Amino acid sequence: MSETLPFDLVVLGSGPGGYVAAIRAAQLGFKTALVEKDKTLGGTCLNVGCIPSKALLHSTEMFHFAGHGAADHGIDLTNLSIDVSKLMARKDRTVSQLCGGVAQLMKANKVTVLQGLGMLEGPGKVRVSGESGESLIEAPHIIIATGSVPVELPFLPFDGESVVSSTQAIAFKEIPERLVVVGAGAIGLELGSVWARLGAQVDVVEFLPIIAPTFDKDVSKMAERLFKKQGLHFHLGTKVTGIKKDAGKHFLQAENKKGETLELEADKVLVAVGRKPFTEGLGLEKAGLETDDKGRIPVNQHFQTKVPGIYAIGDVIEGPMLAHKAEEEGVACVECIAGQAGHVNYGVIPNVIYTEPEIASVGLTEAAAKEQGLATKSGKFNFAANGRAIASDATDGFVKVIADAKTDRLLGVQVIARGGSEMIASAVSHMEYGGSAEDLGRTVHAHPTLSEAMKEAALAVGGNAIHSV
Ligand code: NAI
Repeated sequence: MSETLPFDLVVLGSGPGGYVAAIRAAQLGFKTALVEKDKTLGGTCLNVGCIPSKALLHSTEMFHFAGHGAADHGIDLTNLSIDVSKLMARKDRTVSQLCGGVAQLMKANKVTVLQGLGMLEGPGKVRVSGESGESLIEAPHIIIATGSVPVELPFLPFDGESVVSSTQAIAFKEIPERLVVVGAGAIGLELGSVWARLGAQVDVVEFLPIIAPTFDKDVSKMAERLFKKQGLHFHLGTKVTGIKKDAGKHFLQAENKKGETLELEADKVLVAVGRKPFTEGLGLEKAGLETDDKGRIPVNQHFQTKVPGIYAIGDVIEGPMLAHKAEEEGVACVECIAGQAGHVNYGVIPNVIYTEPEIASVGLTEAAAKEQGLATKSGKFNFAANGRAIASDATDGFVKVIADAKTDRLLGVQVIARGGSEMIASAVSHMEYGGSAEDLGRTVHAHPTLSEAMKEAALAVGGNAIHSV
């Protein structure tokens, strides 16, 4: 017989959306439960996404520098080698440290963690089936934060061995000789970079004519040029048609815009063509909920589904599938439940691809602003003219600031630079407060720093950049 546990609020899923919502709920005095089907907390981001990929990017960036840049600094690193098992062990330690950290946070905030698959049994009721049995939770407020899973291509199904998703591509036991990546978005470029730095031949097949298509065209073009120099081979405007196995080898088949067919030999194929909401086994129908044509749960601006008392946040609802977007929604959702004015400013959610250099943006691209009928003006500053960049071999890249031509209000900022992920934060702050290009340009930035390029690009909007010829 299952036990009934009463709570004020229950969160399904312990990713950045779910666990942050649980903490905020506890802070606001709700008796809170967090239900997680996996053994560790943290969801995709901590276990198989953002965090392990960043650990691998950091290790391989150092390896790449040791092999390619160190000699120029007088650093002699002959007989360089890499031990993939140690590299992976460090990544695993990073992951467990952070997953353990979330568990500690739950304890400190007195959030009850229930391990098991949570299933809606109707409004106000959740059944949790875990290793230690079943329990029934009753709570007037249920937040669905169950995240997303990789999209599978019907003609290229995952087999976990040769055709894989990012989950396996962060855990290869050895360096593949030939890796074919399908999709030149965030996952394709980050994990393509990781394995290329370790010596794999990496071919990236992208359906669109550009890489990193959500960024400004100038950024995408420069990224393509720089990543090509790092050894990535791009096949753009090319669609994958299938995979052929011949004499134990795999050949990815694709067709380009000219109608030419390509066959790319691969030890591993990483399919990174997006993610889709994960709501399987959740009992949505039982609770009276439906998903839209993209599998997402429709919600209003207070994250309420059509069933009173059931809310949804993060990757299962509309919007970019980003950890920080889910976190903000978790906080806002709980604050709305508590009668506060929870709100997410969707116009200023930064987007980053953690390659070298990093690609980061916030707000509108120039093209998107024009599509919205806005008259724009822009300013650009190249890192080749930044002192710190020259001193630190970081001259590849630029900052582009896009502002409203009439009001000077910031509309968007694009960065391609080493450390671009950190640099974008100041642009986000200015935009959050409705700042202008002049505000950003007149803000004092420490010298010498790479972020001076942000100030200069903002000054360039009005034709006032100081260090440009
Ligand atoms: P994505 O949406 O970023 O990129 C997918 C790419 O695949 C696009 O360029 C698309 O044009 C291409 N594509 C789609 N179908 C294709 C096909 N049949 N053949 C060839 N190309 C095709 O998706 P990705 O990289 O899989 O990432 C999934 C989600 O996770 C995204 O929402 C992403 O933002 C998020 N993510 C974010 C990261 C970050 O913030 N750094 C890191 C990793 C993932």
